[in-house]
Amino acid sequence: MTENDITNNTDSRHIHGSGDAEVSTYLGIAKEKSGQQPISGGQPVSGAERETIIVIDFGSQYSHLIARRIRELHVYCELLPHDTPWEKIAELNPKGFVLSGSPASVYEDGAPLAASYVYEKHLPVLGICYGMQVIAHQLGGKVVAGQKKEYGHAVLHVGDVDSPLFADFPTSSPVWMSHGDRIEELPQGFKSLAHTENSPVAVMGCDNIFGLQWHPEVVHSQYGTTILKNFVFDICHCQGNWTIGNFVNVSLERIKEQVGQRKVISAISGGVDSSVVSTLIHKAIGEQLTCIFVNTGLLRREEADRTLAVFRNNFHMNIIYVDATERFLSRLSGITDPETKRKTIGAEFIKVFEEEASKLEQVDFLAQGTVYPDVIESASSTAATSVKIKSHHNVGGLPSHMTLKLIEPLRFLFKDEVRQVGLELGLPEEMVWRQPFPGPGLSIRIIGDVTHEKLEILKSADWIVMEEIKKANLYRQLWQSFAILTDLKSVGVTGDFRTYGHLVAIRAVTSNDAMTADWARLPYDVLATISSRIVNEVPGVNRVVYDITSKPPATIEWE
Ligand code: XMP
Repeated sequence: MTENDITNNTDSRHIHGSGDAEVSTYLGIAKEKSGQQPISGGQPVSGAERETIIVIDFGSQYSHLIARRIRELHVYCELLPHDTPWEKIAELNPKGFVLSGSPASVYEDGAPLAASYVYEKHLPVLGICYGMQVIAHQLGGKVVAGQKKEYGHAVLHVGDVDSPLFADFPTSSPVWMSHGDRIEELPQGFKSLAHTENSPVAVMGCDNIFGLQWHPEVVHSQYGTTILKNFVFDICHCQGNWTIGNFVNVSLERIKEQVGQRKVISAISGGVDSSVVSTLIHKAIGEQLTCIFVNTGLLRREEADRTLAVFRNNFHMNIIYVDATERFLSRLSGITDPETKRKTIGAEFIKVFEEEASKLEQVDFLAQGTVYPDVIESASSTAATSVKIKSHHNVGGLPSHMTLKLIEPLRFLFKDEVRQVGLELGLPEEMVWRQPFPGPGLSIRIIGDVTHEKLEILKSADWIVMEEIKKANLYRQLWQSFAILTDLKSVGVTGDFRTYGHLVAIRAVTSNDAMTADWARLPYDVLATISSRIVNEVPGVNRVVYDITSKPPATIEWE
């Protein structure tokens, strides 16, 4: 088995969902309560130079991927709901629209359609899958349910056409399809520019409006990026001036301008988002930022010391460090229910944070590591109606009397972009590439009540997992890898003696966004080393098991 065998994700870049909510989880509600517009880095360059491609989102699971691919071309791209008013779009200086896919069918009642400005502003438009059908439907063509659905690979054959969309594009190439409906009649003026065996209209175009029946944003469409590149540069005439360095410079200016001489606080824990946001703000306003680090005692071994060392020694940040281990452990004493654990920790965190914040002179802003997937998730209608599985996002919130304005400079960045910002700011790789770690920390990896003794066992086992995963060079390929201390004991034998010890479980998963996850096919010898080290080095543990369940139906964490 090779390292590659452990992941079945062709795109190993992580897209953060709820994974790395970390400390800001507890402060999350503040944003909803305050109703204030947060300060964010937002777009790349100021004034007339600013250029944006807008992805009109009809709810496809690939919509965010389109935005990511376009940003990889150094063109700023935002994903906005299909019913976004023109005033909001106009502020972004759009250079073109991409219409996303959707699970809907255009001919159904209530199917989402494009607003009239998409056609009336004479900007270039690229419809993808459902997006193409929307164009056909709205401009007078006919879309019908196909007799054959087309999922997976297909071969695209480009006709004898002279279109900038096909610059450097081969006459035949593999593309990835996922559709049931098809275009029966093209709108007036449109031509079919390419076909596949099952789709006579696999690409259509008229002037600067194009449609693709396939998905250029997924890696299986080999020349998908070429099409996006041609659209963005040759058809929309973008310059490609959005870079991480540029983003950092603009954000620094913006933060300085908006904060002025006032004071900002942030919460840090060593998680990627809160670390990057604090470092960015510190770079902008230095001493005016105070970071509060509440050590709940539920962090991994050495995590608190390492985090403090980076921020204090490398960046000379103003940090208030509170070792609240005893306080948290006494609050958790006797609590076995996972949701009660989460709520107890959330409430205590806010209390400690508030106590420390109130010792400071006037503070006006709270910095948060909100990232783009959080924004997309909370904007989507499904987020509001989805069933609560675990209370990650509603465990507390700042008390309403703390009327702080929010600064969220990472609000429009995907996780991998946040990591690049971290590297650009000089944060150590170890911190930038840290796997997501839940706010309630090790408490939700101890089944049953949390005690000092159990925490020590789990920290030791977890340390071994981490060391071996890193040694095998697997750390970055895994979304998360960790140990769980179960509430089971089992019989074992050590030397000539019978033992009755704890059962430790190992969990390692691959994922793009934590919404779904697959158990990682870790090499047997890595598992063997982890198991043998744990039973030999961690007193009280005599058995190790590996969790081979995916999400769904399991969740990533055990509690
Ligand atoms: P589940 O266990 O729901 O986890 O599959 C999905 C992702 O969320 C993380 N997680 C949490 N993060 N507070 C957090 O900040 C929480 O209470 C919490 N519970 C789970 C989990 O580690 C995974 O990345």
